[in-house]
Amino acid sequence: KTYGVIMAGGGGTRFWPLSRAEEPKQLLNLSGKDLMVNETIDRIATFTDKQDIFIVTNETQVPKMRTATESRIAADHILAEPAARNTSACIGYAALEIVKKYGDGIMCIFPSDHFIKNQPEFTRVLKEAIQIAEQEDKLITLGITPTFPSTGYGYIKFDATDAAYAKKVVEFKEKPDEETAKAYVASGEYAWNSGMFIWRASTILRAFDQLLPDVAACLHEIGDAMGTDVEKETIARVYPNIPSISIDYGIMEKSSDVLVISAEFGWNDVGSWDNLGVLYDADASGNVIAANHIGIDTTNSIVYGKKRLITTIGIDNLIVVETDDAILVCDKNRAQDVKKIVDELKKRG
Ligand code: GDD
Ligand code: MG
Repeated sequence: KTYGVIMAGGGGTRFWPLSRAEEPKQLLNLSGKDLMVNETIDRIATFTDKQDIFIVTNETQVPKMRTATESRIAADHILAEPAARNTSACIGYAALEIVKKYGDGIMCIFPSDHFIKNQPEFTRVLKEAIQIAEQEDKLITLGITPTFPSTGYGYIKFDATDAAYAKKVVEFKEKPDEETAKAYVASGEYAWNSGMFIWRASTILRAFDQLLPDVAACLHEIGDAMGTDVEKETIARVYPNIPSISIDYGIMEKSSDVLVISAEFGWNDVGSWDNLGVLYDADASGNVIAANHIGIDTTNSIVYGKKRLITTIGIDNLIVVETDDAILVCDKNRAQDVKKIVDELKKRG
């Protein structure tokens, strides 16, 4: 059996003022078509049953998540985390739920907030990956050809002499510094980690035992309580104490059982406002417009609006975002700093 698992715990502060604590990126309709989490569900449903898809999210986000996904996902398939303990905990929790309650199977794990252009190719690659995971006890990840030396991604060096479709991984380096990232990209020997993983639920639980024993100890305690009447209170007590470490640092960097499939399906993680061009075609002046907008001598800018008419004159390389109660005007090169605004707002309370 094949399960889909959507990791939806992120805050998405870089899309302020559209994203808020109660309205994180996965619950936004950035594409103008549907909420990111629903687009993710529909994408997964092309290779597995909708009823076998789980969403893992923070307790505080469950009500909105439930409303948003009601027509697609059953309430008991939304797993609530009492605290955010990073992706290792999130994946471990989902693996336990699957093994203890539904029977072991292949889990295909996805971030909740990525964009994929070529859906048929995505489906094809996933089906191949699932077949390999069924035959081999490996940890499979999907690699993307890097286009610039990003320091926000994991880098995968694969064995180029391996003729198999899923190639042996020689090295996995999460978020290298800029110099290292530059060298990796220049070498042509590295792929970006897409953050999507395919493996058997019991295989990843064994990897936790071997490589992250402190996390595994907590998971065992939770696993023993699962399906009993102390499940809820055990999760509430143990979960916040799970060491906070991402699956990339905790397992992928350390494991010698990783395979990578090179995946070219128009992947983009749409991490911040300057990336909106991935979702909308630019106009002749290089502007990406998702708003009611009139521009005069406006070039290379990104304009996103909810309601009001936005007008711009003589601007270049700017981001303008309008929502009901806040407006952002930002140099396109400073899109990463939007989270500083969020920090400042937190300070002010
Ligand atoms: N449920 C839950 N709980 N979800 C979480 C948690 C958590 O504690 N922490 C993160 N997530 C979700 C996020 O919402 C996102 O969908 C996904 O897990 C990945 O987390 P990010 O915080 O976005 O990771 P990243 O972007 O820094 O790095 C990962 O993705 C890159 C590709 O986008 C890594 O896997 C990198 O290696 C990879 O290159
Ligand atoms: Mg991310």
